[in-house]
This record gives sequence, structure tokens and C-alpha cells, in this order.
Amino acid sequence: MIPDRLKDEIAARLEFYRELGIEEFFIEPRPQVGLAELTAGEPPPALLPEALTQAISPLTAAEVPPQAALSMQRPPTAARSLNLFEAESPQSKERETLEDIQGDLGDCQRCKLAGGRKHIVFGQGNPHAELVFVGEGPGADEDEQGLPFVGRAGQLLNRMLQGVGIRREDVYICNVVKCRPPGNRTPERDEVEACSPFLFRQIEAIHPWLVCCLGAPAVKTVLGLKDGILKLRGRFYDFGGAKALATVHPAYVLRNPREEKILREDFAKIRDFLKAAATP
Ligand code: URA
Repeated sequence: MIPDRLKDEIAARLEFYRELGIEEFFIEPRPQVGLAELTAGEPPPALLPEALTQAISPLTAAEVPPQAALSMQRPPTAARSLNLFEAESPQSKERETLEDIQGDLGDCQRCKLAGGRKHIVFGQGNPHAELVFVGEGPGADEDEQGLPFVGRAGQLLNRMLQGVGIRREDVYICNVVKCRPPGNRTPERDEVEACSPFLFRQIEAIHPWLVCCLGAPAVKTVLGLKDGILKLRGRFYDFGGAKALATVHPAYVLRNPREEKILREDFAKIRDFLKAAATP
């Protein structure tokens, strides 16, 4: 029987690893340590395999890959369903609108999240935004209001935007999945597969300069990259004819307030990118 407090601590720790992009754990067979040995002053065996503890230690400068090496090909997930941002052509002038996509989504029952939702959270903002944010999925507040990032994580996102002089109404905000996963768990593969084609269509319709992926699930879905978020963050990747930047999810910073500098740094990169892109 695991005491409730320990259960909560384990849940919080797993959530922390999930934010880092670590979702699978493997139990390394270890020699059984008897109680007698433990009481003899021996520390208990580490709860986590060594590889995992190493995975979350900060990267040294030598481990950070050079920027040039990070220019990615268009990821398989995006390439599968999309012709993202091809050069202007008569076809691209007939690009579908967000209304078309929302109409197509309808009263979506394509995955099991439909049963637990109050509202579909389609997305919000400027349909011609230069900057699109992709979060993970609606939480309780978002489910209640039908709008993305309106809870505490949303308030932090607003503060970050304000900090770099970007107005929330000028950007577009959406999520990997449009219905709230129970207990705010990570969206499951079948849910992402059912929902992400709509996300890609939204991005294609908006045709932004930059897509900012907030947290590991967004990076994995949009860019097909599975490394930990702390390794991927702060860098620009090719994404069709646009760029994508990976950063941590605001909820991660709410749980780890000392990490706010990561978001500040990455939002400054967003500001600099948009400024440079707007300069003739
Ligand atoms: N977290 C998300 O990933 N998306 C939201 O819309 C709100 C919180």
C-alpha cells in the first residue's frame, strides 16, 4: 500500500519528467537489497536508473549541437498530411479558411476525448498571424470556456508575450488536441492522430512565419522530434516554408518557477526573429 503523500510526490515527479520529454521508464534489474543491509548504513538503491538521472542533468556547452546541425528536414508527421507553405500559386490562393476547418471538425467524435469534454477548444486569435503557438491540450479552464490558454498557464503566456511587446490578439493560439484529456494527462497517440490533421490544416490556413511549440508533446507532434524539451528548446527548425521554435510549456515554469528564464530567453528569440523577418 503506497501512502497518498508518496503517490502525490511520484505523480509530481513523473509530470516533471514528462515536461522534459521523458515518457518511458525501464526498470533495470537490480540485486535485491535486504532490509538488514539497508539498516546497516547503506543508502537505498536509486529510484531512477542512472541513464535517466543523466538525461535530466543540464547540458554542458560541449553537448549543445551547433545551430547549423539543427536545421531539420520537414518532419514526417507534417509531410504526411500537408503541403505546408508551398510557394504562392493559384492553388495556395484558394487556401481553406479556419472556418472551413472548424466546420469540418463539427461536433467531433473522432476520439475518446469527445466523451469527457464540455467544449471543443478549436483555437483563438488572428487568422493571419505571423506567429502561432501550439500547446498540448485544454485544461479545466479552457474546457469550461472553449478558449485556449485562459487558465494559469495562459496568464503566464500573456505575461511572456507582454514582456516582448507582442499582443495576444495578434497571434494565434491552439493545441495538439482540442478536447481536454482527463485529469490533464498527456494526449495519447490515437488522440493525437485523430486531432493533429486539424492542427496542421489550421497552421497551413494561417500560413505563419513562425510556429512556437510549447512543451514536448507539441514539439513531437509538430516537428516529429522526440528528444527532451530541454535539449530541443531555444532553437529554430525548418517547418515547411516557415520556422518552428521549441520551448518549454508555461505549466512547466509554473511548477518550476526558477525556470522562467528559459521562457524569457525563448520569447526574446521570437521577438528578434519576427523583427528580422519584418525588416525588408
Ligand atoms: N495548456 C495547454 O497546453 N493548452 C491550453 O490551452 C491550456 C493549458
